Amino acid sequence: MNKSLLNLPEAAGTHLLRMPMTVLAAAFCAFAISGCDSPKPIERNATEFDLVTTDDANEDIGTYILPQDTSILKEPNADQIFYGKRLLNETKRLMPDHVGAQMNCNSCHISQGKIPLGDPYINSFNFYPRVMPRSGKEIDLVGRINGCFMRSMNGKPVDRESAEMKAMVAYMEWLSQNVPKSQKVAINNAGEVDTSLVADTARGERIYYAQCATCHGDNGEGMKDSRGDIVFPPLWGDESFNIGAGMARTYKAAAFVKYNMPMGIQTKGLWGHGNVLTDQDAVDVAEFFAHKPRPDFPGKVNDWPTGNKPKDARY
Ligand code: HEC
Ligand code: HEC
Repeated sequence: MNKSLLNLPEAAGTHLLRMPMTVLAAAFCAFAISGCDSPKPIERNATEFDLVTTDDANEDIGTYILPQDTSILKEPNADQIFYGKRLLNETKRLMPDHVGAQMNCNSCHISQGKIPLGDPYINSFNFYPRVMPRSGKEIDLVGRINGCFMRSMNGKPVDRESAEMKAMVAYMEWLSQNVPKSQKVAINNAGEVDTSLVADTARGERIYYAQCATCHGDNGEGMKDSRGDIVFPPLWGDESFNIGAGMARTYKAAAFVKYNMPMGIQTKGLWGHGNVLTDQDAVDVAEFFAHKPRPDFPGKVNDWPTGNKPKDARY
């Protein structure tokens, strides 16, 4: 049995409790199929990271300590930050008018956006506004969040003056822990995969049914609990992210999958930090699910107006 599962940290416990034992048992079998020749998981349970300057000098000037959620209570706007945290965790249930997919923000932003290589929000508050190649124009944090609402959540943008938007931004601001704009936490939002690898979809399908289908379903539909809330988010179909999402792109999806999936299957570190698949495994399985049918994105006509469209773009 996978030892790390017996020794779960606090954040992981919530996922485990939500998960039916049959699913866990099946996940162990999937682990057995994958064999033991997989690469070693990297250490990602650190809670302290270097703080560096954003200029070319990239100077190491201190330490960022990942805050505990209990420290939110000390903030003057604690209620707002907690509301934002909740919205990011339970987006579908709390904001149904804005979310078309069976997805929460934190279905992709792992561990509430606190994990390097798991699409963290740690640097997001400081990283925007910036010019994004996809839109060809300057996007601020609200615009970036709405990008994920319209694409990853296949939904509608949220008013920038709404209590909900302000709360989500407040959570991200709290997570930035007053790091000034001229500095950043030295972490990567996404891991690397070899983008020169050519995907083998048939192999990807076999990996999907061995390693992913127990949680994400035989038809990529995911799994809901008896109240209809999301337990495992869908990977394709009408209830998944649309073709405009970063996750619909093979190599972006592969980088996410390699370092975060299959969730709960690993030998070291925190729950759900993947890194049991090789680059080729990740590219093959990503090609398989990313190209399955999913909703269209009408706004696609405006993307990459200045060229440089990535080779794995869906349109
Ligand atoms: C299907 C997966 C998925 C879902 C669901 C999702 N995102 Fe994202 N998000 C991503 C990916 C992947 C990126 C990385 C950028 C990209 O698209 O290339 C990202 C980027 C971001 C960023 C910018 C991070 C940075 O520092 O540059 C923010 C902020 C963000 N998302 C917020 C949200 C919010 C808020 C929601 C819910 C409304 C959400 N996301 C839902 C996948 C997702
Ligand atoms: C043990 C259950 C489990 C297994 C096995 C698993 N996942 Fe996941 N997956 C999850 C959960 C849970 C989330 C949502 C993240 C969270 O709640 O922390 C998720 C999220 C995702 C997401 C982002 C959200 C979405 O729906 O698009 C992708 C992509 C994904 N998984 C792909 C895979 C792939 C590919 C495999 C197989 C290599 C896999 N997963 C295996 C449980 C699992």
